[in-house]
Amino acid sequence: MKKVTLNNGVEIPWIGLGVFRMEDNDNTVQAIETALKTGYRHIDTAAYYFNEEAVARAIQRSGIPRNEIFITTKLWNDDQRSGKVMEAFEESLRKLNTDYVDLYLIHWPVADRFVHSWQVLETIYKSGRARAIGVSNFKIHHLETLKKSTEIIPAVNQIELHPYLSQQEEVDYCLKNGIRPESWSPFTAGKTALLQESSLQELAAQHGKTPAQIILRWDYQRGIVTIPKSSNPKRLAENIDIFDFELTAAEIDQINALNQNKRVGSDPDHFTF
Ligand SMILES: NC(=O)c1ccc[n+]([C@@H]2O[C@H](COP(=O)([O-])OP(=O)(O)OC[C@H]3O[C@@H](n4cnc5c(N)ncnc54)[C@H](OP(=O)(O)O)[C@@H]3O)[C@@H](O)[C@H]2O)c1
Repeated sequence: MKKVTLNNGVEIPWIGLGVFRMEDNDNTVQAIETALKTGYRHIDTAAYYFNEEAVARAIQRSGIPRNEIFITTKLWNDDQRSGKVMEAFEESLRKLNTDYVDLYLIHWPVADRFVHSWQVLETIYKSGRARAIGVSNFKIHHLETLKKSTEIIPAVNQIELHPYLSQQEEVDYCLKNGIRPESWSPFTAGKTALLQESSLQELAAQHGKTPAQIILRWDYQRGIVTIPKSSNPKRLAENIDIFDFELTAAEIDQINALNQNKRVGSDPDHFTF
């Protein structure tokens, strides 16, 4: 699995397994184990996904050394509101059965709280219990607020990003400021007919790939780390098999032209959870 270096020198695999909406049960353990056998070395979970224990069990069962797997987890909004950031982090470590995570993210920019939360993440980072810290669902103005009032620049900003929401301005801002952009719901979580788009189908046929692989390659060539979710062995293999072909600049533009600034998830300025 190819990797990219974050702004503090830590390497992150370009593609990870997203495990949102996968329950804390044996099917999930098995799906994550299959992913690890297939070659995944990066897992994206969150306290809010309630499956950190399944992630830990799968890693243990795989026999792969902990230091070969990149684990991301996230601080949930209620723990920001209650100010129990350190406690929430320690609970995630306990459930993940590890003494460090590779990346700890603020899940959403809870207004009036996220600067304080970030300061606690800075303390966690300095203690060595998170190899990198970052944010999720931060718009440029949130990142600017952090920049003015905190010390460490986030290593990653994980945002909703797919061909219907290409986020070019935010991607440019992140890359310019040393923040690695990461895409969540690269396939719109199946909530749209994105994978049936005729232009993606045509590009897929031309390259001997699938529409999903065309999207993941478009992300990679734009400098974006992705974390597609799948529980299906065939699709798990498909989603990491994107490093043997290249899209031309014109083909990238063709995919960019699908942008509608359309979200399938919440707007980070107006979420209600
Ligand atoms: N930070 C945040 O606020 C946030 C929000 C949402 C998601 N995320 C993260 O991003 C990850 C990915 O997003 P997501 O789970 O919402 O959706 P997604 O990855 O866009 O889509 C997952 C859906 O696509 C299907 N799929 C996967 N690979 C496919 C392929 N090659 N061809 C056709 N269909 C395919 C999956 O079905 P099968 O399982 O049957 O293959 C599943 O139904 C999450 O798991 C989570 O880790 C973060």
